[in-house]
Amino acid sequence: MSGKLTEMSESEADASSETILTTENLTKQFGPLTAIDAVSLEIPADGITAVIGPNGAGKTTLFNTFTGKHAPTDGQIVFDGETLDGAEPHEIVGRGIVRSFQITNFFAELTALENVRLAAQARYSGFGPADFLTHHASHEAPLADAKRVLERVGLAEVATETASSLSYGQRRHLEIAIALASEPRLLLMDEPTAGMSPEETNETVELIEDIAADTTVVIIEHDMDIVMGIADRIAVLNEGKLLTQGPPEEIQSDERVQEAYLRGGGHE
Ligand SMILES: Nc1ncnc2c1ncn2[C@@H]1O[C@H](COP(=O)(O)OP(=O)(O)OP(=O)(O)O)[C@@H](O)[C@H]1O
Ligand SMILES: [Mg+2]
Repeated sequence: MSGKLTEMSESEADASSETILTTENLTKQFGPLTAIDAVSLEIPADGITAVIGPNGAGKTTLFNTFTGKHAPTDGQIVFDGETLDGAEPHEIVGRGIVRSFQITNFFAELTALENVRLAAQARYSGFGPADFLTHHASHEAPLADAKRVLERVGLAEVATETASSLSYGQRRHLEIAIALASEPRLLLMDEPTAGMSPEETNETVELIEDIAADTTVVIIEHDMDIVMGIADRIAVLNEGKLLTQGPPEEIQSDERVQEAYLRGGGHE
């Protein structure tokens, strides 16, 4: 959160504000529709960036280009100094860009712990021939990682319950846990509080702030109270274009942003 920055001297703040991901003229067309239109965006490595904009603005499509689900039509994405051009989704995960998926990606009949352990296991299996893996690396380490992650998202107490038996809010946190098990450097969250009760929303906001202490977080979020409370900076998309980006106070009072929301009819 922004509190972190105020405690630093200016030179420290400068040093910490390096960029982890840059898009250069990023464009994604679906047939005649330009869903992302020449977007040049910088995501600083520290803190939380919120991507906002009316329905259909291209927010989810932006994430889909980051994860390799959609190849850009034009322009490029540079992550940690290297282009993502041509990278497959699994390579991109390996490089540290991870999206928090929807709950349909769970194994509903496995326990919360088993779900997260499987995700943690994938990180170890890429290290070399299985023969070279010690028993610890191949089995115990992923289990320990999974327990640690479940603890972090507040699900330690339901670790041995099946995913399908968890409450809605718990399942959304399990989804976050599965993403964290890949040890992301950049975590993408698409409407992480959608459908949550006020209490679940508060817990999730706290969790996201906790994650952001050591991981770059980009969230797409419709709830402006949440955005203004959580984001260190905001990027506004409108009809595929980057309308503006800046600190929350600036965005809140930006007339172009207010107009875009009025024209776009706001959110459902
Ligand atoms: N796979 C696809 N094929 C064709 N068109 C698509 C595809 N994905 C998205 N679009 C279109 O691209 C535009 C941007 O969609 P996107 O889902 O990125 O918007 P969004 O900002 O996430 O909106 P919302 O706030 O409603 O989630 C929309 O017009 C949408 O219909
Ligand atoms: Mg969307």
